[in-house]
Amino acid sequence: MDFLEVIEKRHSVRAFTGEAVPRFLLDELIEDARTAPSSKNCKSSGFMILEDPDLIAAVGQMRDGGSHFLSQAPAAIVVLGDSAKSDMWVENSAISATFIQLSAVAHGLGTCWVQVRGRDRTLPDGSRQLAEDYLRDLLGIKEDYSVLCVIAVGYEG
Ligand SMILES: Cc1cc2nc3c(=O)[nH]c(=O)nc-3n(C[C@H](O)[C@H](O)[C@H](O)COP(=O)(O)O)c2cc1C
Repeated sequence: MDFLEVIEKRHSVRAFTGEAVPRFLLDELIEDARTAPSSKNCKSSGFMILEDPDLIAAVGQMRDGGSHFLSQAPAAIVVLGDSAKSDMWVENSAISATFIQLSAVAHGLGTCWVQVRGRDRTLPDGSRQLAEDYLRDLLGIKEDYSVLCVIAVGYEG
C-alpha cells in the first residue's frame, strides 16, 4: 500500500471481527516499530504482544472507561519505555506506537491506542489505582519499564 494511502486510511478501530491475527503479522508490527527513531538512538521502547482473550479482557479493566472495548480485540500490543535508559522514553514510545498503527494499516489491520500513562481506575473501596500499576501486576512488568499505552489490534468489524 502506498504510504499516503496508509496515512489517509488510518483511523481508530474499536470493533473487530472475531478473526485471529496471525502471529507473524504481530511480529512484523513490532519489527517495524523497532525501526522508529529514538533520542540518541537509545531504543528505549519495549513491546509485549498479548493474544490470550482472557488476559486482553483483564487488560481492558485497567480504567473505568475508554479501555473496555479491548475485550473485543483478538490481539493487543503493550508499548513500554525503559525510563532508566532515557528521559525521552515517552516521546520514543509514542513514535513506536504510531509506527505500529501505521504498519497495521499497511497490513490490512485496524488499531486503537488505549492510554495507560497518567490514567487510573476506581477500586471497590473507592480508592484509585494507576492503570500502570494494575498492568504491572497483571503482566509482570519489570520496574525499569513504564507503560505508555496498549494498542488494540484486529480486523475491523
Ligand atoms: C495519546 C492518545 C491517547 C488515546 N487514548 C485513547 C483511549 O484511551 N481510548 C480510546 O478509545 N481511544 C484513545 N485514543 C484514540 C483517539 O480517541 C483517536 O485517535 C481520536 O479520537 C482521533 O480519531 P482517529 O484515530 O479515528 O483519527 C488515543 C489517541 C492518542 C493519540
